[in-house]
Amino acid sequence: MVKAWYIDGEELVTDEKVKRSERHLNPPQYISLDELRHRTGVQCERVNVDKYDTDDSLQEICREKGYQYSDILDIHPQRLENYHDKLAAFYTEHMHPDDEVRLVLKGSAYFDVRDVDNNWIRIGVERGDMLNLVGGTYHRFTLDCDGYGKLFRLFGSKADWSSFNRPADSHPARIAYVEKAVMGF
Ligand SMILES: [Fe+2]
Repeated sequence: MVKAWYIDGEELVTDEKVKRSERHLNPPQYISLDELRHRTGVQCERVNVDKYDTDDSLQEICREKGYQYSDILDIHPQRLENYHDKLAAFYTEHMHPDDEVRLVLKGSAYFDVRDVDNNWIRIGVERGDMLNLVGGTYHRFTLDCDGYGKLFRLFGSKADWSSFNRPADSHPARIAYVEKAVMGF
């Protein structure tokens, strides 16, 4: 189940294990998924991952959103080439011209996204959670402390992995994102 909450800018995921044990004392102040969408444009879905490749609801989402391509990203030290370098790149704040759409098949992870006031919102995802980050959203990604995740990646009319580290304020996708944010998601 997707959960979202504000974090301090440089909160480290390696501290999550400690923070989890303290959570009963200082639980995160969660925001609703409506608030998350309103503040960032991020949309969340739940998908039956036991049959995600044939699931009607996922097919419907793909038809509605125009997702035509997909692949699987298996983030495992023995199965992903340059595992540590890739994790470092994922955790560097960046944006993509196209939407970033991910369905969690295994493991758990965090997407951090900037809200309209440039504050970080951490989005915790686990098996069955699906996120759509609008193109132009500044964000970063990391695994939970278990260090493993398997993601189903969906793309629109083409599989485009291009990414631009912040600052990318003059990129047309970022400009379009800011305009959408001003109008309201
Ligand atoms: Fe990304």
